[in-house]
Amino acid sequence: METKIDEIAPRIFRLSTFLPAVGPQGLTFNQFLVDAEEPLLFHCGQRALFPAVAQAVARIMDLRRLRWITFSHIEADECGALGEWLDAAPAATVTHGAIGCAIWLNDQAPRPPRALADNEVLDLGGRRVRRLDTPHVPHCWDAGLLYEETTGTLFTSDLFTHAGNPAALTDRDLVGPAIEAEKRFGYTALTPATGATIRRLAKLEPRTLAVMHGSSYSGAGAPVLETLATFYDDRLRKTTTPPA
Ligand SMILES: [Fe+2]
Ligand SMILES: [Fe+2]
Repeated sequence: METKIDEIAPRIFRLSTFLPAVGPQGLTFNQFLVDAEEPLLFHCGQRALFPAVAQAVARIMDLRRLRWITFSHIEADECGALGEWLDAAPAATVTHGAIGCAIWLNDQAPRPPRALADNEVLDLGGRRVRRLDTPHVPHCWDAGLLYEETTGTLFTSDLFTHAGNPAALTDRDLVGPAIEAEKRFGYTALTPATGATIRRLAKLEPRTLAVMHGSSYSGAGAPVLETLATFYDDRLRKTTTPPA
């Protein structure tokens, strides 16, 4: 198993592991390292991925410098290896939204978590990350995303998931492949709030979208997010409107 490293924005590293057996075309599992005075890891990966991803991080910095570990929601690929990371990084604190701490981390985390409120900013020294609560987007009650303000990078977790092992960074259409994957996997918890939650992210006007499964996106993020929101709004309307 090999984990590739790409710097997708200044000092923001994508750590990508391709698992060919997932789905018909395989799927990438991407963690992100924000290198700052207090380095932060977004997503832990599954436990089986830990040795390869940890080796990749070690090529960038001493693992023991890691100060923060966070993720979008409670699921194996987002946080399965949390215990392994906390063991390898004794100075690291796990941080998550208030709901995630209440329903899981306060009980299950090896060390006490730090809860972040919606919109709360963590100053990493040279980089600033803002926690955004996005309940059930893409799925799970505790879901949230992270926005790095200095580089304009939005960590989108499973939003924009697409299959295969594409380039680390693209400026091509992200929404088409994401819709294909949504139709195949049906991974989004579609609710009346899905479109509005994604439109709130568009208002940040991110310049890079750091995608957990597939290519990250370089360019104006707002229209891409708006297009995805419209897809989900249409889907909800079709699901809930009775035939005439
Ligand atoms: Fe997920
Ligand atoms: Fe995921």
